Amino acid sequence: MAAPPGYLLLLFSLACLVPSSCSRTLVLPLARDPSTLRYVTTVYRGPSLDPVPLAVDLGGPSLWLDCSASGPSSSPAVRRVPCRSIQCLAATSDASGLRRACPGGASSVCGVRSGGGEAGVLAEGAVAVDSVDGSGERSVAAVDRFLISCARAAAAGFAATGVRGTLGLGRSRISLPSQVATAFAFRRRFFACLSATEGIIVAGDGPFFSHLSADVSKSLTYTPLVTPNSPRASDYVINLTSIKIDGERLPLNSSSPLHSVKLSTEIPYTAVASPIYSAFAEAFAGAASAMGMARVPPVAPFRVCFDPRTIGTTAAGPDVPAIDLVLQSEMVKWRIGGWNSMVRVSDEATCLGVVDGGDRPGSSVVLGGHQLEDVLLELDFGGSRLGFGPPLSTMQLSCSDFRSGFNSMASSSL
Ligand SMILES: *[C@@H]1O[C@H](CO)[C@@H](O)[C@H](O)[C@H]1NC(C)=O
Ligand SMILES: *[C@@H]1O[C@H](CO)[C@@H](O)[C@H](O)[C@H]1NC(C)=O
Repeated sequence: MAAPPGYLLLLFSLACLVPSSCSRTLVLPLARDPSTLRYVTTVYRGPSLDPVPLAVDLGGPSLWLDCSASGPSSSPAVRRVPCRSIQCLAATSDASGLRRACPGGASSVCGVRSGGGEAGVLAEGAVAVDSVDGSGERSVAAVDRFLISCARAAAAGFAATGVRGTLGLGRSRISLPSQVATAFAFRRRFFACLSATEGIIVAGDGPFFSHLSADVSKSLTYTPLVTPNSPRASDYVINLTSIKIDGERLPLNSSSPLHSVKLSTEIPYTAVASPIYSAFAEAFAGAASAMGMARVPPVAPFRVCFDPRTIGTTAAGPDVPAIDLVLQSEMVKWRIGGWNSMVRVSDEATCLGVVDGGDRPGSSVVLGGHQLEDVLLELDFGGSRLGFGPPLSTMQLSCSDFRSGFNSMASSSL
């Protein structure tokens, strides 16, 4: 039975007299795809809310979607926006977003290009995300005129997975967190908890942590976000001043200066730039040997591997030398240890899960998925700062515990 719209409006405003039910939290449940090791989430598109699986790109500027692929039901195509439009200007006006490419002149469609090399056509259409209100009531929150970058190549590399594109969560005006913050007047920030099994991203009013046994928000350390030295200005990048292994500063000279750390969900393992990697691997192997860990032949893509039987264990995983990324001061460190450091490759080899990143310019260290898992992150793009917690395991928690407070509609379908 359809209720008249006025009736619904009344119900909604009455419900809002109870403040908790007015608050809204958007929820993106994450699952790690085993073949690509990418974190996949689901948004909904069109009036029939067709689920669209997307690979999360933490620093990506936009939602890149293969708009030509048809969904489970035939939803109407998104509407392309012209080059001469407010939307085209908005999407390409800030330095951290996309660049406009309108070869057909101002009356053509709005072509867009990212610093990362993706190219497509700007379109708008309804995009919805799971949401939960303060009383636990689930629904979807829709942005009717969400700006999407349509690109046939958006799903390339995800062939067998059903993934239809990538969901950019970066520091641009048309990333998903930015568009939903504008649409719902949220604070411009979100929390991410990546996991091999049950990760989650949440944005909105909260409460975010009331269901957890420890107030994890109090354990966050903050560091300023800086303008990337990389092609993608939408990336989340922080300054790096030194690296310590078991408290010992890596001996680096001026020919291999350290400058920044980028956070990435595009790579499964942290990559350290070549000139620094050799010193890094050597220092780690030396400290490990002092702890009685026995080297075994490397297993690609890793270079530094050990006999698992010679590695002790702690509540936070393997007992291995601590890696500290020293940020804006000696007091501010991002510590990598335990499960975040090591990858069990076989019964014969457990390897340091950090790879040689090659000579590409950009960040000295790109923190990849394995090192970001089960660490609570606050991506505060409005406040230009990043909050990061200690591994949740040190508080006897995991991302699954965090996610359990936001049982959303998509949780069961992922
Ligand atoms: C980051 O490092 C650069 C280069 O050393 C410096 O100019 C900049 O002020 C630093 N930014 C912050 C926020 O500390
Ligand atoms: C600086 O470090 C590089 C690589 O670690 C090394 O090849 C070079 O000899 C070092 N230079 C000096 C002056 O120590």
